[in-house]
Amino acid sequence: MPVLTRPESMERITTPALAEAFIAEQIADIRAQVGEKKVLLALSGGVDSSVVAALLIKAIGKQLTCVHVNHGLLRKGEPEQVIRVFKDEMDANLIYVDATDRFLDKLAGVSDPETKRKIIGGEFIEVFAEEARKLEGITFLAQGTIWPDILESEHGIKAHHNAGGLPEDLKFELVEPVRILFKDEVRVVGKALGLPDNMVYRQPFPGPGLGVRCLGAITRDRLEAVRESDAILREEFQKAGLAGKVWQYFTIVPDFRSVGIKDGRRVDEWPVILRAVNTRDAMTATVQDVSFELLAKITERITHEVKGVNRVLYDLTPKPTGTIEWE
Ligand code: XMP
Repeated sequence: MPVLTRPESMERITTPALAEAFIAEQIADIRAQVGEKKVLLALSGGVDSSVVAALLIKAIGKQLTCVHVNHGLLRKGEPEQVIRVFKDEMDANLIYVDATDRFLDKLAGVSDPETKRKIIGGEFIEVFAEEARKLEGITFLAQGTIWPDILESEHGIKAHHNAGGLPEDLKFELVEPVRILFKDEVRVVGKALGLPDNMVYRQPFPGPGLGVRCLGAITRDRLEAVRESDAILREEFQKAGLAGKVWQYFTIVPDFRSVGIKDGRRVDEWPVILRAVNTRDAMTATVQDVSFELLAKITERITHEVKGVNRVLYDLTPKPTGTIEWE
């Protein structure tokens, strides 16, 4: 059975050897808990669910079914990477659901941020529940709950259950093999399990995904501008050695246009806003000092490579007064 509390004597997992010991222990625990039964996991591709998937694949192989829901609001290359790593390389039972149209149709014309979040969260549960109902004989639901989630939910800060809110007919027993780990420990374990660096050291990414960065009512063309500009920003940060050093960096596309000039012609297009921040706990944040040269290079690329964009701005606002996301 899973340990309910993190023992005070527990050594912080900082080395591959400690990670290997944790993995061996968890594999034994998972096998003891699950036996011959079947487990379901919502695999987002984030660090926590990816590490849980890799652990369960090692422990119980095909008794695990992973469901990866693409809500159409993921970053460029993410669904492809989840399929490559888990299906192709780890030979997992992976169900890939491309629900892009469903989500974007429901979101069409909705501009209120909270309503957008509710639609995305609600639809996610619905799609996941539909897939779960198609499967036979599932007893357990695996979750990437980590120790800070438990602490925060104990203190009433947030409800931690990632796939919480499943309908009554889908009440499974939980398997939470990383629940006593801190985030940095999850990364060490993920590395020891052979997950790729860009998955293990990935920056935080909100559940509603690019939906909170495509301001106002989401349109497919503006969403594409968010996705493509984000990919350019990540590529340039990687080349400049900033990936893994800056806590979070991304782009935002607001729902207004301004006049610009392209190929000698007047164009009405969107601006892209760049945000790059550092923080310890996301409660406050400082702005990354990005060189003017790099900002100019990113601007050049985004304004020339991303359709419908004629300006690039850098957000100089710390938190407070700004939040990290725009919404
Ligand atoms: P804000 O914008 O409130 O964000 O300064 C603080 C941190 O939380 C992330 N964030 C989310 N993470 N689901 C998540 O898992 C969400 O709905 C969500 N909204 C914001 C944000 O990216 C930042 O790291």
